[in-house]
Amino acid sequence: MSVYYNWTKEIKIEELQESANAINTNGIVVFPTETVYGIGANALSKDAVAKIFLAKGRPQDNPLIVHLAQKEDITKFCIIQNEIEQKLIDAFMPGPFTLILKKKNIIPDIVSANLDTVGIRIPTSKIANELIKASNVPIAAPSANVSGRPSGTEVQDIKQELENKVDIIIDGGKTNIGLESTVVKVIDGIPTILRPGKITPEDIKSRIGIVKINDKIFAKPENEEQVESPGMKYRHYAPKTKCVLVDIEDEDLQIKKVNEIVSEDKNAVVIGFSEHEKRVNTKNFISMGSKDNLEEISQKLYSVLRKIDSYNVNLAIIEGVNKAGLGIAIMNRLLRACEFNVKK
Ligand code: TXA
Ligand code: MG
Repeated sequence: MSVYYNWTKEIKIEELQESANAINTNGIVVFPTETVYGIGANALSKDAVAKIFLAKGRPQDNPLIVHLAQKEDITKFCIIQNEIEQKLIDAFMPGPFTLILKKKNIIPDIVSANLDTVGIRIPTSKIANELIKASNVPIAAPSANVSGRPSGTEVQDIKQELENKVDIIIDGGKTNIGLESTVVKVIDGIPTILRPGKITPEDIKSRIGIVKINDKIFAKPENEEQVESPGMKYRHYAPKTKCVLVDIEDEDLQIKKVNEIVSEDKNAVVIGFSEHEKRVNTKNFISMGSKDNLEEISQKLYSVLRKIDSYNVNLAIIEGVNKAGLGIAIMNRLLRACEFNVKK
């Protein structure tokens, strides 16, 4: 049985203590962060971390991110090897940002999936921060979803997948950002984005002066392929319904293409910009937010993707956004949700 705590209004001190006790006795706890919800366990206990992999059905070769309360703790678990890594820490932590660093032996191999590096993140979320502090251990936490499914951004979605597979579920309301953190690794002295997020390439360029985007971000991964970040090679964020992404720069042509596909499958559900609802010829329309508000789209994205299956139709048609700024992260997720099925 999972125990539920409602902290949407405030953190309840006794329940915080119970949650910390659960972490300290090898339990697993779902908690909100500013990006998405995580399933957390004591990162120093391989038995506790093994429970996360089991609850999610996560492949053993996909490493977890370790969450800390403060920058001062980073060197307890990792080695900062160069000035660029230090600059990234100073610029973007705490925040929706994960830095891959050389790990110390204190972090068990199961956390890093036998890599010699580990992802470190310091959330700004007050609940996440208080939970880490009360537990007094680093918390390993992947996104709160069954492996391959959209990440959990509100408790009602998480409940359907993880009910009774975890000890405690803390409700902190809808998460603020809605997409997972930007994952960065310094490769040959260059900050390289392995997973795009709220911290954009422009943000990194302006603070560090140089940035690279790993070319696998928009590419269809092959399972056996050597990738910098194991998470890239898995089917991800996908609804059960087949999805197609319509990615055309010209707005009118994009709507035209959507209507063309709808005319071939009248029951198809369209996931489009709120401004386009009246211009798309379907009764099955889910608004992903305003085309001019990428923050809104990223915030709603996973609950929108989860809604698709409730229509019980054969096809979902999703409108693409511009691949700039936060749009890079949104398109990275949409391409995977559509399993790289794109109409241009
Ligand atoms: O916003 C977030 O990052 C959320 C919240 C809970 O903090 N966490 C999250 O974790 O999204 P997860 O496990 O769903 O995604 C972690 C990603 C995966 O794609 C994984 O492959 C990559 O980070 N990763 C983790 N450790 C790595 C490492 N040592 N080297 C390369 N990639 C790594
Ligand atoms: Mg995930």
